[in-house]
Amino acid sequence: MLLELLLLLVTTICLADYLYRRRQNGFFEKAGIRGPRTIPILGNGHNLIRESPKTVFDLQQRLINDFGKNIRIWVLHESGFMTADARMMEAILSSQQVITKDSLYDMLQSWLGTGLLLSTGKKWHTRRKIITPTFHFKILEQFVEVFDQQSAVMAEQLYDRADGKTVVNLFPATCLAALDIIAETAMGVKINAQRQPNFPYVQSVNIVSSITAERFMNPIQRLDGWMRVFFPRVYRKLHENIKSMHDFTDGVIEERREALQKSIADGTHQASQSNDDADVGSKRRMALLDVLLQSTVGGEPLSNEDIREEVDTFMFEGHDTTTSGISFTLYLIARHPQVQAQLFQEIREVIGDDKSRPVGMRELNELKYLECVIKESLRLYPPVPMIGRRVTQDVTLDGKLIPANTNIILLTYHALRDPDYFPEPEKFIPERFSAERKGEINPFAYTPFSAGPRNCIGQKFAMLEMKSTVSKILRHFELLPLGEEVQPQMNLILRSSTGINAGLKKRVY
Ligand code: HEM
Repeated sequence: MLLELLLLLVTTICLADYLYRRRQNGFFEKAGIRGPRTIPILGNGHNLIRESPKTVFDLQQRLINDFGKNIRIWVLHESGFMTADARMMEAILSSQQVITKDSLYDMLQSWLGTGLLLSTGKKWHTRRKIITPTFHFKILEQFVEVFDQQSAVMAEQLYDRADGKTVVNLFPATCLAALDIIAETAMGVKINAQRQPNFPYVQSVNIVSSITAERFMNPIQRLDGWMRVFFPRVYRKLHENIKSMHDFTDGVIEERREALQKSIADGTHQASQSNDDADVGSKRRMALLDVLLQSTVGGEPLSNEDIREEVDTFMFEGHDTTTSGISFTLYLIARHPQVQAQLFQEIREVIGDDKSRPVGMRELNELKYLECVIKESLRLYPPVPMIGRRVTQDVTLDGKLIPANTNIILLTYHALRDPDYFPEPEKFIPERFSAERKGEINPFAYTPFSAGPRNCIGQKFAMLEMKSTVSKILRHFELLPLGEEVQPQMNLILRSSTGINAGLKKRVY
């Protein structure tokens, strides 16, 4: 009896799976979207099982070679649609309908709540409207001082390894600098990560980032329930550290709210969102958090929890991504001496020869060649190499009907190396982004910061931070092509399994 029931159950599951798959596949076939052969229940799960963070880009390239830039894929019962086609990316990224993130992002929820990165629908619209002025250029202008000071600390920390022969993995040092920068600008607190890497908050951010990166690639760890059963220690460690970060952020928010209320009471309060540009951030430096404390929705201020999810989102989105961007840029500069020479010349012309002179917004804006170098580095090594969406209802994109409940993956890494848009795509050619060739770049083929309504809200912040840090390092050191080549891997963001290596030699001038 039991065996018969079991057989009946398996047959029912297989039949339901077959019928559902047939419906979804019908849409894909009609749209001319093909993909690898599937098997019952697993879909293409068996094709993915041997893949790892290191091989994922090769796998995607093979799929593009076999099926074109639009690919259908099945992971168990979930249908997926991957695209590296700039026209399709334009349709997806410009759509006001396709703004929900795919299920992989759920793993970040226990840390980030439903802050701007993860929210959708009305909540996302409201929050995006409130948070946009947070990145007002007057506020960014004050942050340039933080970028400069913290990148000076980074240079200082690297001096003892700058002997011209030691191989330095640039990622960890950059990560601590990026954490110092984002903590001071987002929360208004100095955590001194570079000088005290053991500070509990810094450790928690690093632990949670690395466990989440691991979960991202390990299907058994992805679901909370499974992780709790099969990896109880890691699960506990993850949640203890998330709690410790939340406690820290809560403490900072309470402190800043009290300070704000006190300043209102004693008449020293400065408005953050005055229409008069001169008022914005003209006195004490304002942190992103202060702007949120003064924001209202329907006349009501945001609660501490609302603010915490946004501040945590800044902390997450604003440190690993810039770390990846800065380290890969320094790596590429080290391996292209002519580019380095031209950059150094530009830096001396704009900033001068005094290494201790602080750099302001004006100088950063004048470093035009550096901007081209960073953009080209983000093209070859985009910190966010894939973007996910989920369609919750049938939707037509670039003339193709994509069925409801499909996870969409934008293959940014491959789109950025598409020879149709970037001739000689594997070559590092910063001049692609020169002012004279501006019109040649298609904004939907070049999407390291995404594009459309859900693009990166911190893009300007990130570009200024990267320019500040890279120029500071180049003022102090010549970068040398030492150490192993990078081996890009997808671990939440783009990292390298071999480190991001270079040598450093003190500059004398
Ligand atoms: C090189 C550095 C950076 C890169 C390459 C980058 C890239 C991106 C990308 C590709 C997205 C879209 C993600 C998606 O749709 O799933 C995004 C969103 C976002 N980024 Fe960045 N980012 C960087 C730095 C920053 C910084 C410094 C901040 C904040 C200080 C920030 C805050 C955000 C937020 C809040 C979102 C969500 C926006 C929304 O959904 O409305 N990012 N970023």
